[in-house]
Amino acid sequence: MADDRPEKQAMRKIWVERVAEASAPTAEEPLFLTLAGADGRDVQALVDAKVIGVTETGAILAEDATKVVAVEAREEAFLKLSSRFNGLRVLQSRIEDLLKQDHPFNWPTGSHLDLFRARVVNFDFDGPLEVTVRDNQLVFPQITWIKKIAAIHAHKTQIDWCLLLTFQGQIQWSTEVESGVMRLLADNFQRSGEFSEIVEGLVGSDTFGGIRDCNDDLSLSDLSYEIQQRILMALIPKKICRELNGSGWNIVTRMNVRYGGTGTHAPMVSFVFDFEWDERSTTEPDAIYIESLLNSVAEPCQIDARGSVEPLA
Ligand SMILES: C[S@@+](CC[C@H](N)C(=O)[O-])C[C@H]1O[C@@H](n2cnc3c(N)ncnc32)[C@H](O)[C@@H]1O
Repeated sequence: MADDRPEKQAMRKIWVERVAEASAPTAEEPLFLTLAGADGRDVQALVDAKVIGVTETGAILAEDATKVVAVEAREEAFLKLSSRFNGLRVLQSRIEDLLKQDHPFNWPTGSHLDLFRARVVNFDFDGPLEVTVRDNQLVFPQITWIKKIAAIHAHKTQIDWCLLLTFQGQIQWSTEVESGVMRLLADNFQRSGEFSEIVEGLVGSDTFGGIRDCNDDLSLSDLSYEIQQRILMALIPKKICRELNGSGWNIVTRMNVRYGGTGTHAPMVSFVFDFEWDERSTTEPDAIYIESLLNSVAEPCQIDARGSVEPLA
């Protein structure tokens, strides 16, 4: 995806700051694991900010070569990226294949396990959040991968880490999935009055009422792009906090943002999450869940077409 619009440049600036302040990696565990795409613009942003050094010919410096790992599924993009940065470690694979899918008993081993202990993981997806129904249960494959990566960061010694997560902000689910997602959100509205108030402010009273009442006449994918983005801004962090509740991590949402959705620019949602190892995750799991849930939607923002980040009205 040739995406170099100002909104995306603003996101990359935020990513570079997060990578620059991350804790030191080891030779085996990278600083930054990314879906860099054919052009590797996020890698280039790290080079421009001198977080990663390059030689006169543009090759990654030998001492920085283990810091970044890029994963790319498409062969054409893999070849372009590999030739763009000499010395960059690029794996041609699907991220979920490296992670052994969402299978609960299969895990990556050896160097692939270390790969997922990166201090900053950039899941810059060019597609939407996938949700399906399997064995009568709602399944969020990408969020299951994140859960696996969090477990890998808790393996051996625990390392605090940062997840940069981006999706296309359109809802593209079956009617059965839409209805399941509405029930999931409605259940949360019942549990926390404060969360429902914030989400009502985020998505508007009509949409909020339709979701709360699980109204069959409400089709989420027919709502405006902006409202679809706003629903995802409530749903995605909520689901991550719920899935990881009690696992040892306190999830702090540092950024919850929408951009695009006008003209030819695809609507996008993007998040910055800090995963902090916290004993309260197992001693006070309910309190920490509510804390991380409310914090996830406390300061939603948007990026305008010039790349300025502003609070979401
Ligand atoms: C949005 S682009 C990356 C853009 C880049 N991060 C930047 O800053 O401009 C996403 C890239 O990830 C690849 N990709 C998407 N899903 C993937 C997956 N599950 N496994 C591996 N690669 C994937 C796509 O082929 C695409 O090249």
